[in-house]
Parts: sequence; C-alpha cells; structure tokens
Amino acid sequence: MVAIKDALSKDHVGKKVQVKGWIYRTRSSGGIVFAVLRDSTGIIQVTVKKGNVPDAEFENATKSGIESSVIIEGEVAEDKRAPGGFEIRASKFQLVGIAEAFPITEYQSTELLLDLRHLWIRSREQTAVAKVKAALVRGGREWFHDNGYVEVNPPIVTGVCPEDSTTLFQMKYFDRIAYLSQSAQFYLESLIFSLEKVYAITPSFRAEKSRTPRHLAEFWHMEMEAAWLDNDENMKVQEGLVSAMVQNVVAECSEELRLLKRDPASLKKMEPPFDRMKYDEAMEYLQKKGHDVSWGSDLGAVEERTLTVDRDTPVFIVNYPKELKPFYMKENPEDKRTYKNSDLLAPEGFGEIIGGSERETDNNLIIERLREKGESLDNYQWYLDLRKYGSVPHSGFGLGIERIVTWVCKLEHIRDAIPYPRTVARVYP
Ligand code: 4AD
Ligand code: MG
Repeated sequence: MVAIKDALSKDHVGKKVQVKGWIYRTRSSGGIVFAVLRDSTGIIQVTVKKGNVPDAEFENATKSGIESSVIIEGEVAEDKRAPGGFEIRASKFQLVGIAEAFPITEYQSTELLLDLRHLWIRSREQTAVAKVKAALVRGGREWFHDNGYVEVNPPIVTGVCPEDSTTLFQMKYFDRIAYLSQSAQFYLESLIFSLEKVYAITPSFRAEKSRTPRHLAEFWHMEMEAAWLDNDENMKVQEGLVSAMVQNVVAECSEELRLLKRDPASLKKMEPPFDRMKYDEAMEYLQKKGHDVSWGSDLGAVEERTLTVDRDTPVFIVNYPKELKPFYMKENPEDKRTYKNSDLLAPEGFGEIIGGSERETDNNLIIERLREKGESLDNYQWYLDLRKYGSVPHSGFGLGIERIVTWVCKLEHIRDAIPYPRTVARVYP
C-alpha cells in the first residue's frame, strides 16, 4: 500500500501500487469510470476500464458514489490532465464501504455545514487546517523543549477565576460548585518554584455570550510561566515561540498553506524581533485613524484590526491601563496607572493571539484588587501562599491556539480552526 502523495511521482510510473481511500468525485463515460480518490495525504485520479477489471468490480466502480471507501490496485501512469499529473489505471477495484448519497454538495449554507460537521471535517480545507494546527503545536512543543521548559498538566476543574468572572462555566462538583478552567496560569505559577520554566497545553473555557468570529466557548490554550523573568524577557519568549511555530508550518505544510490560499513566503518573514507599541501610542494611532477612543478605552476586534491591517508581522501592545486587565498583573513603576503587560496582535487585521504579563508579587496589592472585584479570598489562599514562601519575579502568557491557526490559515472565522467548535449556539455534533 502506498500513500496517494507518494504515488504521485515519476518513481512509480509503470509500477503497480495499491492505494486505500475514499471517492472524492467520480464520473463515468463509455465504459470508463474516472474516480478521484482521497486519502489523508492527497488526491489521485483512478481510471477503471471495463474489461481491465472483473465485471463485478466494474459494476461496483460505476455505482460507488462520493465518500465510498475503496481499495484500488493498478499501474501508475503520467497524465497531464489528471490532478497532480498522474493517474492509476486500475486492475482491481475493491469496494469496502458503499456511501449513501452524500448530504454535502458544492454550495451549502454555513449552518448546514455545522450541522454536518462530522462529515464536513473530511473536506480538504478542514484536513489542511488540522495539519497546519498540528505543525504549529509541534513547533511550539519543540521550541519549549529546546529552551528548557517542562510540560505540566494543570487541572481543568478548578475553584479560581483568573480572567473575567462573567465568562465562567459553573458545574456541579459533588456537593459544591466548581468551574471549568479559563486559564492554567495560577497553577503554572505554583509550579515555577520547583521547575522554574513550565508550559501547558490545555482546553480553556469561556462562556462568551457574544457571537464573534474570534471567540469560542472551548479553545486550546498554550500557556507558559517562568521564574526570574521580567516582562521584556517575557515578550522575547513570545516572539521566539511564535516564530518557531510559524516556521515549522512553513517547513512542513507548504502544500496545505497553498490549498488554503496562504502564501508560505508571507509567513517566512515572521522572525524576531516583533515591533512594540505602547498602549498610549496605540491610542494616538487609533484617534488619527478616526476611532472614537481615549486613554482607558479597551481594544476590541475593530481597533485591533486598524492597528494591524497594514502590518505584515505581529506587534506587541505594551502597558495597558489597569482597569482593562486582571488583578494579577505587575504594576508598572514608570506609570502606576498601567501594568507591565502586553498583548501580541497578529498582522493583516487578525489581532490578539497572546495575552501576557509580569505577575504582581505584592500580596497586599493582590488582596486589595481581589476585594475590589468582590472575590472571596478563601478560594485564593493557596495563590497568596505562593508570595509568602520564597517569592520571585516571574512572568508568563497564554496563546490561543485557534487564534494563531485562524491567522496562519487566513480563516474568516475561528470555528474553522477546530473540528468541533463550541459556541453559545452549538454543542451538536
Ligand atoms: O488574554 P487571555 O484572557 O489571558 C489569559 O487567560 C492569561 N491568564 C494567560 C496567561 O497569562 N497564562 O487569554 C489568552 C489568549 C488570548 O490572547 C487569545 O488568543 C485566547 O487566549 N483566547 C481565546 N481564544 C478563543 N476563544 C476565546 N473565547 C478566547 N479567549 C481567549
Ligand atoms: Mg486577552
């Protein structure tokens, strides 16, 4: 058996191969069936000629519709008209699983494709996105490993709220209430006192009620935390990591990128350093571009689009006003109205892919901010302990994996960056 990608080569011309796959499209005319076969690696044309295979097999070839699973044997031949330039001239056509009339045809509504997600994920675009995503994650893992980070497994069921309390998913946990994790950050912070440099890849949950093209209720989160790191060093980690992830995609997935209409050359230039822009400068820039914003305004999708649409590499926005960000960030001594933090915005209008900061080490400030938020300190005693026993300066960040996939694959909507998107409207299939 050979992979279709490998069968499409001069080396195989004149040789007999066996391929296994699914019918991608098919037509027949005058005693010949032209079927295009798909496997996980690509597509290839198969011609089944009456007389070249047993009659019963030819019969099966004529009735095998889209998505029927088959095993084919035959000789590879060059054919300029076939997709990829080669075809297989079948001497054996084994029908494994006949497909009923496939419910997805060429032009379908988004809703229908979401209802039929379990079938739509077979599409070539979805397959390409899945491979790009895997290459991004693998590039990230390798970068972390090469740079001395230890992968750890924080809990998903938790009692803390690192981000916005209005987006917590509550669950019944025996006779108590617990939450699905929004971020592994606090647990990662606790692990730096032994491991110093840690990262985790986990699902994170946010009950985002608004329907936007960049929010999921369940997303995959790549987060890191490191001791002895200030926010400038934290940004260096981010640009090193992001470029390693993207370069790995360029190296491994150029065909998938082209299928997704993303020029690999446009990704090659993602090399550190990325530009840095203070929040204050961002405000000035937005005002010049006609946005109705002033110091203290949050940056949403619209503002982030303006900030990045003319850029072809990512940009850090640094030192946000405190009221826009969570309680755990380190106060900026140069301007106490702000934090030592940054968001990393992807270029071409895509916007935020990472949120990160140096962490507050002063328990009095943390307690004050938790009180202001109306949080019960009981749930945070363990977090406050971390500052009592050998506290150190430290920083970390969280990268939204589907966000980086959306950007790298140039997707219009984040739901296409994950096989089964979970949004306010959908838990089926
Ligand atoms: O900016 P966020 O909320 O930061 C944190 O959660 C920090 N505690 C992370 C840390 O420092 N360890 O989320 C981090 C990233 C965002 O930049 C975004 O890429 C992604 O997670 N993200 C989402 N992705 C998809 N859907 C959502 N609803 C998301 N919310 C955040
Ligand atoms: Mg954020």
